[in-house]
Amino acid sequence: MVTIAPIALDLERSGDVDFGYTEEQLMIQDVARRIAQEKIAPSAEHHDRTGEFPLDNIRLLGENGLMGIEVPEEYGGAGMDPVAYVLAMVEIAAGDAAHSTIVSVNNSLFCNGILKFGTEEQKQKYVRAIAEGREIGAFALTEPQSGSDATAMRCRAVKQADGSFVINGKKSWITSGPVAKYFVLFAISEPEKGARGITAFLIDGDKPGFHRGKTEPKLGIRASATCEIEFTDYVVQPEDVLGMEGEGFKIAMGVLDAGRIGIASQAIGIARAAYEKTIEYVKERKAFGAPIGTFQMTQAKIADMKCKLDAALLLTLRAAWVKAQGGRFSNEAAIAKLTASEAAMWITHQAVQIHGGMGYSKEMPLERYFRDAKITEIYEGTSEIQRLVIARNETGLR
Ligand code: CAA
Repeated sequence: MVTIAPIALDLERSGDVDFGYTEEQLMIQDVARRIAQEKIAPSAEHHDRTGEFPLDNIRLLGENGLMGIEVPEEYGGAGMDPVAYVLAMVEIAAGDAAHSTIVSVNNSLFCNGILKFGTEEQKQKYVRAIAEGREIGAFALTEPQSGSDATAMRCRAVKQADGSFVINGKKSWITSGPVAKYFVLFAISEPEKGARGITAFLIDGDKPGFHRGKTEPKLGIRASATCEIEFTDYVVQPEDVLGMEGEGFKIAMGVLDAGRIGIASQAIGIARAAYEKTIEYVKERKAFGAPIGTFQMTQAKIADMKCKLDAALLLTLRAAWVKAQGGRFSNEAAIAKLTASEAAMWITHQAVQIHGGMGYSKEMPLERYFRDAKITEIYEGTSEIQRLVIARNETGLR
């Protein structure tokens, strides 16, 4: 059964629902908004055009606790909760989607998994540098022939007599791959066991046997560098195995549940930026002697954009709230990601349409929002995979 989170509703601000955010949540939202509006948004067009990795901005985000929002302070993070993560991610994505991709992978896919399954030594060694933004983290699950069907991976980890593993194989579509120092890698350690034969490893990109391959030219989120990585006889010592041997698939799936809340938040940020530009435009732009916002066809689009945006935010906050209570939140995360990513695609599409020629022009950011929104329906589980997860949860059938 889906549990509706009993988040307190406080309607003191007219037209706005106040969820009773804590002071800390509002503080990190404010820090994220200021950095996003003052530093990130002004350079978003440059980063999109050149594909240049925004290292200075990432360092700044790290100095302000935003690269390890849910990481306890003892490991260099901000020590906040999942709701704070959603609020901050929305702000960063509203500034620039590519930045929020890098932030999301660091926070959800890299730090989360090590905090949950790692040893004390692993947390000290790997999480601190990433949470402080001094190094970049990445997540290596996908392979050229295995995306949605993650258990079809071929990257092989062979255990040696001394307990170490030798890794050989290729991973593709690795977000931050060209610049990351550390990676959470998933490889097959016992092929006969299927999903239960996958193990997670912590990898150092500066060690022998690790190679970075070609960088992907992408439609959107162009400043978030993506590449293939390859392992040739890369040796992992036993202390760098993450979790138990054979537990890798469950670690990957659990980490992706958290990641999907991050991508839902990213989608909301992109959609909100497109929505806000649209509201300004329909008040200024005149046709047939009146602002286009007075036309019913425009009004219908505005109303539908706002409904989808708010629904996406509420579902994403619910997923974050359920996560904060502990236990599984796979269904809530899938519902949030599916709703938010499809809302972002629809809203950015309508925003381009309402802006007409200006929406299609690179003089305004609408076409970038439209291109950036598309990835949210693809990575960390396509919309089809989210529907599969939701339907399996709702029916109990497989
Ligand atoms: N949490 C914990 N355990 C989970 C889980 C979860 N969310 N989902 C499944 N499991 C467990 C199951 O309980 C099962 O355990 P048992 O063997 O003990 O029964 C085991 O994992 C296998 O589960 P399934 O049989 O359900 O696995 P499946 O092969 O049918 O796959 C799937 C399920 C939902 C399709 C899954 O493969 C999936 O989510 N695929 C999409 C992969 C994905 O999101 N890739 C994104 C790439 S990463 C990325 O995009 C990062 C980036 O750079 C931005």
